[in-house]
Amino acid sequence: MQFAGSHILSVTQFERADVERIFSVADRMEPYAQRRRVTKVLDGAILGSMFFEPSTRTRVSFGSAFNLLGGEVRETTGIENSAIAKGESLYDTARVLSGYSDVIAMRHPAAGSVAEFAAASRVPVINGGDGANEHPSQALLDLYTIKKELAGRGRGIDGLRIAMVGDLRFGRTVHSLCKLLCLFQRVQVVLVSPAELRMPGEIVEDLRGAGHEVLESDALEASIAHVDIVYSTRIQEERFSSQQEADLYRGRFRLNQSIYTQHCEPNTVIMHPLPRDSRETARELDDDLNDNPNLAIFRQTDNGVLVRMALFALVLEVAEQVDAHARDVNWYTAGRF
Ligand code: CP
Repeated sequence: MQFAGSHILSVTQFERADVERIFSVADRMEPYAQRRRVTKVLDGAILGSMFFEPSTRTRVSFGSAFNLLGGEVRETTGIENSAIAKGESLYDTARVLSGYSDVIAMRHPAAGSVAEFAAASRVPVINGGDGANEHPSQALLDLYTIKKELAGRGRGIDGLRIAMVGDLRFGRTVHSLCKLLCLFQRVQVVLVSPAELRMPGEIVEDLRGAGHEVLESDALEASIAHVDIVYSTRIQEERFSSQQEADLYRGRFRLNQSIYTQHCEPNTVIMHPLPRDSRETARELDDDLNDNPNLAIFRQTDNGVLVRMALFALVLEVAEQVDAHARDVNWYTAGRF
């Protein structure tokens, strides 16, 4: 695809070569994300960060990524702090805010809303999550993490065996990840969820159409026995009609160290898009896994900065200029990474 000036709204925009290009640029961002080098390639550029739904990682890592490339970030958080609360349309909001920014990262609770906003925007818009629909930058960082985790084991994304566990109906990260996996070969996907929270049928069909083997199950232990990756997700309480309805499913699939030791192959990688729900009634990924070296959740969050830097560098067409605007850092950085 032509990255320069493009909106990033769905992973279905990408061919495999595009994903590999993003990963290749992300690899080159490591010295900057690890604070060994500083670049000012986006000096003077402005990111409009518009998060109309709660977020920690996506919002802050988009902002960090832009700062690390030398740009400035202007944030709007919460519909209540925006004129949308006074009835302003997404069209008008996009027309106005795209006059104040060079690129926009946006999250919104309604599926399709980021694409609607992008259609009126005068600058590229990157989807930071639209309802239960898609979360393309998360899927890219997840796949980038899978690639890096498996590289040391002589395995790649082709031939991957992955179990996705939890709320597969409303979890936008697993929707985007499944669509991205359709670009690869011979993937085995085990989809573990309550019957009411199964992966949407069209995404299962997409996986099968790509030649992948798909199993659906409601039994955790048997499903995680022969996979490279266990990708856990929380119950997406905010998508249910009530907390009581979400409570019906919360805590149904809990992975802890004991279950991992008993049922997983050695070195099975544990992932989660985060936030994990650490309340006693949930704990889909128990804190007792924190010292397990195969728990990759914080490597995922670190990788998110690299991938988001790569997206900005490609969309704003500076990927080949980053090093030319760089210098070594002069402050203490040892031991962080
Ligand atoms: N993974 C993710 O989207 O996290 P946040 O909701 O904190 O952005």
